[in-house]
Amino acid sequence: MKGFSSDFLWGGAIAANQAEGAYLEGGKGLTIVDLLPTGKKRWDIMNGNIDSLVPDHNEFYPGHEAIDFYHHYKEDIALFAEMGFKALRLSISWARIFPNGDDETPNEDGLKFYEDVFDELAKYNIEPVVTIAHFDVPVNLIEKYGSWRNRELVVFFERYAKTIFNRYKNKVKYWMTFNEINMLLHLPFVGAGLVFKEADHKNQIKYQAAHHQLLASALAVKAGHEINPEFQIGCMLAAGMTYPYTANPDDVWDGMDKDRESFFFIDVQARGAYPGYAKRYMNENDIEIDMHPEDEEILKNGTVDYIGFSYYASRTTSTDPEVLKQQTSGNVFASIENPYLKKSEWGWTIDPKGFRITMNQLHDRYQKPLFIVENGLGAHDVPNENGEIQDDYRIDYLRKHVEQMKEAVKDGVELIGYTSWGPIDIVSASTGEMKKRYGYIYVDKDNEGLGTLNRKKKKSFSWYQNVIKSNGEDL
Ligand code: BG6
Repeated sequence: MKGFSSDFLWGGAIAANQAEGAYLEGGKGLTIVDLLPTGKKRWDIMNGNIDSLVPDHNEFYPGHEAIDFYHHYKEDIALFAEMGFKALRLSISWARIFPNGDDETPNEDGLKFYEDVFDELAKYNIEPVVTIAHFDVPVNLIEKYGSWRNRELVVFFERYAKTIFNRYKNKVKYWMTFNEINMLLHLPFVGAGLVFKEADHKNQIKYQAAHHQLLASALAVKAGHEINPEFQIGCMLAAGMTYPYTANPDDVWDGMDKDRESFFFIDVQARGAYPGYAKRYMNENDIEIDMHPEDEEILKNGTVDYIGFSYYASRTTSTDPEVLKQQTSGNVFASIENPYLKKSEWGWTIDPKGFRITMNQLHDRYQKPLFIVENGLGAHDVPNENGEIQDDYRIDYLRKHVEQMKEAVKDGVELIGYTSWGPIDIVSASTGEMKKRYGYIYVDKDNEGLGTLNRKKKKSFSWYQNVIKSNGEDL
């Protein structure tokens, strides 16, 4: 039976908004994460309820310093190289390149920063995998244009994408347009910089913004292929299938319906047209997309090369009001408890078999190579009396997921690579905590922003090193 291909891209994934910090350095403008505090207000803001687009000095914004990857990238990349990384997924901060988003010319300091990062990766033969927008919109575009609800954003995004494609065309081959593009429906400020007023028809605004992101993605794919035909440009889905709670066809349909909410985006990005079920949903929910005559052509001509996705958990749904009372809170995707599965400390179901199901489902649906660009366990690591972090729970989670990847390969699924989330501890996107750690490398920093920022290897560091060295054989 075949295993992972010899050029399989093992590595890790981080993002500018959760790792870089240095939020005002090098000419950078403000972006979404710079307005996300910790604490009670965070959830409301992530959902688009925000009073002011200026940071409030009474609040703590964990992204402002994050783990200061901006100044530590050499040290961090050396550690990734020591683990044997073949790839590092990272994002470019839009506001480092175009501080206001609508600037005529890019910011050279920002361009230079990423050039240095890519050169550092090249020293160790680590392939960069670049997300163009990871929960990232320059705040000026939110203020002046209403962010992605406005078609102007398509123009600004295309300019940004072309700028970085041209600049890094000989340094970066793998790209992704929008991180977890379906997140726009669940956390609209995080996914698309959307801010709502009380009376807004929110779904109308979200789907219009989605249309604009889909156009922008298609235009970027087309431009990228023109700039360098070798580019591999993907989409990125927050994946994880929805199980029906029972075999009642109503539950089964509900699960399918919920999955289609997410598949809608990828159906457009991978197949180049709006699926029928999405048109029906919009018709029946008073959603009318402002489409220009050229839009169908744009979508058709900008389909992606591969399907990038994150997988953390599966979800479960029911149409029975009694069962629905068990709905768990705290997760971005609503789910009821699955009696067959355990959960993480943050309430995310742990479901390795669901990973295999998801890979097969995506491959059956799109018949394109898959790139697992996020997976991992967010856990509270406590150093023992010797200061070591024995994160066997993380090793266990990852081992079981990699095993399912092997099964998927045997099932005939084509996998490009695996970049687990947060190979070095970074700020949590949903909670803003440092305590929710995913890393093989511990960063000394707490939820209040205190700590030395020193890096230290956890037990999982050498485990993952062996996984890579043995190309997934030694788990
Ligand atoms: C994905 C995002 O939603 O999951 C990442 O693309 C995020 O940005 C990751 O960090 C894990 O979520 P969290 O909330 O535990 O950080």
